[in-house]
Amino acid sequence: MSKIIIAIDGYSSCGKSTTAKQVAAHLGYGYIDTGAMYRAVTLYFIQNHVSCTNPNEVSKALSEISIEFRLDENQKNNTYLNGLNVEEEIRKLYVANRVSEVSAVAEVRHAMVDQQRKMGKKRGFVMDGRDIGTVVFPDAELKVFMTADPLVRGQRRQIELMEKGDLLDLEEIMQNLKKRDLIDTTRTESPLKQAEDAEVIDTTYMTLDEQIDQVCILASYAI
Ligand code: C5P
Repeated sequence: MSKIIIAIDGYSSCGKSTTAKQVAAHLGYGYIDTGAMYRAVTLYFIQNHVSCTNPNEVSKALSEISIEFRLDENQKNNTYLNGLNVEEEIRKLYVANRVSEVSAVAEVRHAMVDQQRKMGKKRGFVMDGRDIGTVVFPDAELKVFMTADPLVRGQRRQIELMEKGDLLDLEEIMQNLKKRDLIDTTRTESPLKQAEDAEVIDTTYMTLDEQIDQVCILASYAI
């Protein structure tokens, strides 16, 4: 059976990553979380006080950053920044509050897109993000664009953070989602937009299992 690329793009907290991970496991495919890569760069920028508006600082920082994914003993994907496991840290709100600003920097995007294309050289993976079907792999055999009602997205994110021990106000979370969506959709460099040939899935009233099933059905037609 031929292996394909499945690109899942969409707004923040629509269930892209969880769906992508499960679809990849179901098909025996690899999974690449491109949001984690931008979050790792952002963490490095915060820790090292890198200014997004200073091209020299951005270039130097990018030359010092190495990002990889490693599976732990439970087959869970962890993001490593310069050899350190930053999986938990990059999910925190202080990183989420800066990530769209960092992701809008052209040089950051070029570096991440190059790395994503290398990671995906062999087909047979699911990649989720904002520009996968439009920029990174415009030749992906299946493109999915996920959307959901903002309140539902905020509530889902709140539960996800609560499960990790972070108790946050719904309003604060919704402000973050709104701000990220605005920057992500209006930036000059590869803004978030639906690819013309993408299948749209509105997850507002769907369970996670239904989302996974829907993508797996679409994949079975594309393979
Ligand atoms: O997917 P996640 O919510 O972890 O992504 C975090 C942020 O990274 C997004 O809000 C967006 O600013 C950026 N991003 C991006 N392009 C991607 C993936 C994520 O700009 N392909």
